[in-house]
Amino acid sequence: MNVNWLLGVRQISDKMINCLRRVVTVKAEAVEAVEAVEAVEAVEAVDNKITISLFDDKLQDIDKKISMAQPSDIPCLFKYIPMEIFGKLLLEVPTEYPNIKAFFPTMPSEEVQRHWTGNCGQVLLDQSLGFIKALAFGYMAITGKSLEKTVVLDYGCGWGRLTRLLYKFFCFENIYAVDPWDQSIDECKKHGIKANLALSEWVPKSLPFNKRFDLIFAFSVFTHLSEKTTHVVLKTLRDYIADNGLLVITIRPKEYWEIHNKGEIASEMLASHDENGFAFSPLDLPPIDGDITYGDTSISLDYFVSHFPQWDLVCLEYNSMDPYQIILFLKPK
Ligand SMILES: C[S@@+](CC[C@H](N)C(=O)[O-])C[C@H]1O[C@@H](n2cnc3c(N)ncnc32)[C@H](O)[C@@H]1O
Repeated sequence: MNVNWLLGVRQISDKMINCLRRVVTVKAEAVEAVEAVEAVEAVEAVDNKITISLFDDKLQDIDKKISMAQPSDIPCLFKYIPMEIFGKLLLEVPTEYPNIKAFFPTMPSEEVQRHWTGNCGQVLLDQSLGFIKALAFGYMAITGKSLEKTVVLDYGCGWGRLTRLLYKFFCFENIYAVDPWDQSIDECKKHGIKANLALSEWVPKSLPFNKRFDLIFAFSVFTHLSEKTTHVVLKTLRDYIADNGLLVITIRPKEYWEIHNKGEIASEMLASHDENGFAFSPLDLPPIDGDITYGDTSISLDYFVSHFPQWDLVCLEYNSMDPYQIILFLKPK
């Protein structure tokens, strides 16, 4: 028998064995990784239960009253439930509180949460809580008004991530939410969001509600709009804000471009931002009146102040959990 041939067979079988070993190791590592994630999730679930149970007396009481409560009573019912706990309940209400569970909306799938809002579960909740606290306490501090009778609009509500957290402070009959994407409104309805929901236009000259709002907010919306759409929306929102109302929006700083698509278009976008104060990279979507309205956007503060004189920039907020969202508090001039 040819010795070279035998050596060849030996080398091939050695390679196959190595390959098989690698497959087995990768598989074992994958199983370990899945088990580690499951273990972390299990610990988080237990932690959540323990944290929620600290407020068990209050929650038992709320559970007894909530089905008969008037909409305007809801914020008062949850008065002694901290915002963080309120958020955890929205993630998952323990079975011990069936009536609270029936009242609260259900959560969309992890895939929808992650795909539409970049994160999911507790991490996303922490980001959402950071914004809602800034919104509610900022509104009270700036306007000197309480939240009880405040009429609020969530502009570009998506799946209702922030809309649902508003129940802690606002009567749900006074909560309005719009989005131009029909799937957003469908998702809100599917999960039982209690609010006045409606479809708006992509480039709205008016809103689908005939009223003025005390508070309008748009989180992660102006971080995506084209320059033309940004101008139209800010003009339209001005028509719908109460004279002593407050608009709260987020914008992106130019540093965002360093992480967008791993910095692939950073130099072009940074140059546009530095030159114009506005940089926009459109998504591959059909244009509306010659303009693609949606993509990714950075806006400088100087641009904002000089181009939108109908709004008075009162102050800024920032949450380090959401590093590319700068929160602007704006009063109508
Ligand atoms: C990144 S998501 C943010 C959703 C939600 N505000 C949140 O923070 O969870 C952006 C949302 O803006 C909506 N949107 C897109 N164009 C818009 C426009 N011209 N006016 C209002 N909303 C718009 C999208 O449909 C989407 O739901």
